[in-house]
Amino acid sequence: MKIVVIGATSGIAEHCCRLWAVEGADFVLMARDTAKLERIAADLEVRGAHSVTLAKPEFHDPAAIKAFADSTVAQGPVDIVLIAHGWMPLDQHKLDIAAAEQILQVNAVSPVLFAEAFAGPFAAARRGTIAIIGSVAGDVTRRANYVYGASKALLTRYAQGLDHRLVGTGVKVVLIKPGPTDTAMTTHMKEAGKRLASAEEVARATVDAIRRGKVEVYVPKLWRYVMLIVRHMPRPILNRLPI
Ligand SMILES: NC(=O)c1ccc[n+]([C@@H]2O[C@H](COP(=O)([O-])OP(=O)(O)OC[C@H]3O[C@@H](n4cnc5c(N)ncnc54)[C@H](OP(=O)(O)O)[C@@H]3O)[C@@H](O)[C@H]2O)c1
Repeated sequence: MKIVVIGATSGIAEHCCRLWAVEGADFVLMARDTAKLERIAADLEVRGAHSVTLAKPEFHDPAAIKAFADSTVAQGPVDIVLIAHGWMPLDQHKLDIAAAEQILQVNAVSPVLFAEAFAGPFAAARRGTIAIIGSVAGDVTRRANYVYGASKALLTRYAQGLDHRLVGTGVKVVLIKPGPTDTAMTTHMKEAGKRLASAEEVARATVDAIRRGKVEVYVPKLWRYVMLIVRHMPRPILNRLPI
């Protein structure tokens, strides 16, 4: 099983990789932080990974992302690409316009470029799963993180259309929507005493959803029902809630 992970230093992605390593997976990992990625690669090898290759980090240049996808698939069939990178700064209403652009680049534009780059070669090979980590924050946007939420909302609509495009090709699209999860991204929430799912639990559900080829999953499952209610709340009530 060959698995490509973009944003492989993410807490959620690392725990997914630990589960796949036990199955003897071959990994191609990409992340900005090379030192951290090397530590993760060594750990995955100890846990049973068959091979771990580190890719040159390239998150924003469409030509480089396409070249990476093409060459990775040309070297042998890829079973899964997990697109996991993301950035959620605090208090987005206090940030400047350059930060808004960066949030959209990291959480929306870049993940779409990776999915687009793999969709063609996967369709030609008539196999592969494109798994994208979205968020419950994309279902309803709130002032604390509305640009981040909007970027995740884009991923939801994008994945819907990509899934439609790939019907009949044998390629699966899986969108994972975690609720608040205990990783580096949510240190501030943990410090504030918020309840968070563990990265292990979210990773288990993510790996399971990918194995089953589920189109969209909320993890933990409860969030499907929470967001169903929140999405249908009238604005005056929604805007009074401390969320
Ligand atoms: N934790 C949550 O509560 C939660 C909830 C819903 C959805 N998610 C989503 O789950 C995914 C994984 O997040 P996580 O919780 O595992 O967080 P995390 O541990 O903080 O990981 C974030 C990942 O994104 C990468 N990244 C951040 N800024 C980047 C940039 N400008 N360019 C390239 N890569 C960048 C990080 O790389 P470096 O190591 O180089 O910084 C790291 O690999 C993200 O898409 C996130 O939005 C998380």
